[in-house]
Amino acid sequence: MEEKIEKAFEKARSFTPDNAGELEQFRIEYLGKKGVITELFHDFKNLPPTQKKQTGKLLNELKNYVQQKITATGKVLSDKEEYSSDIDLTLPANQFQLGSRHPISIVRKEIIEIFSKIGFTISEGPEIEDDWHVFSALNFPPEHPARDMQDTFFISKDPDILLRTHTSSVQVRVMEKTSPPIRTISPGRVFRNEAISARSHCIFHQIEGLYVDKDVSFADLKQTLEYFAKELFGEETKIRLRPSFFPFTEPSGEMDVSCRCKGQGCKLCKNTGWLEVLGCGMVDPNVLRACKINPEVYTGFAFGLGIERIALLKYDIKDIRMYFENDVRFLNQFSGTV
Ligand code: PHE
Repeated sequence: MEEKIEKAFEKARSFTPDNAGELEQFRIEYLGKKGVITELFHDFKNLPPTQKKQTGKLLNELKNYVQQKITATGKVLSDKEEYSSDIDLTLPANQFQLGSRHPISIVRKEIIEIFSKIGFTISEGPEIEDDWHVFSALNFPPEHPARDMQDTFFISKDPDILLRTHTSSVQVRVMEKTSPPIRTISPGRVFRNEAISARSHCIFHQIEGLYVDKDVSFADLKQTLEYFAKELFGEETKIRLRPSFFPFTEPSGEMDVSCRCKGQGCKLCKNTGWLEVLGCGMVDPNVLRACKINPEVYTGFAFGLGIERIALLKYDIKDIRMYFENDVRFLNQFSGTV
């Protein structure tokens, strides 16, 4: 009987299965109901007691060896299958969608770059402001109708704390803190109490510019704006200035740029050949005085534009509400623009 056990041992040792099926066969062959080991145990019962000790020990060794071999080989085989057969390392990686810059960010960046080239710094200020920085320092008398054009959301009355209606408030803060020469642009989010429609929103973005120094003239303003329009809309762009009114500038104007249809007539310019782009003017002496700058020594110009409007003209966007809807079908159209 010991010889039989030795033979079974030898066979078990030399067994190297290639797959789980062969291993299962091996298990049945040794440990199954009619398996080698089961039968050996059967025979073992009939041995004379004197032989039982020695043979029993050997038989147990065989059984343990086979059981361990099945467990260990099973693990090796399943690891091999997991890493080799199920995973194809040559497949392309899972795709993930990269977002794109928002059109407002694209245009803001572009405008900032244009003014940076001619020495304008960037200044920022709070969105929640007081009456002084949004209205009073900018020469809006308390009951003046010009305040109605920029109605806003009040957070408290007395003192008046409100959401800024333009980033001219930032320019007041800059003038209060620094002495001329000042050459800065103020990009930022602004708020107005307006009904939301295709053309207007209660939240939008502005960039306002300010230049204060000795001998700054209207000619400097016009030259700066012409440079800006050509950089933004193309070298062939023409500008025109129309008289307007703002409490904080005198004289005040509005700048139009020539339409891409070159006067042929189109929907965008409503067949006028011109597109309204921004407000501008020479800083009113009262504003300089409110910011403790001597208007006898210094003069300045200012301008302000809505980024939504510029992007609308640049990309021919029909409805201002699209900027805030976060519809990927809209946003995807700007992917690849840096
Ligand atoms: N602050 C003005 C507005 O929001 C724009 C402007 C700025 C006009 C500077 C003239 C000069 O409408």
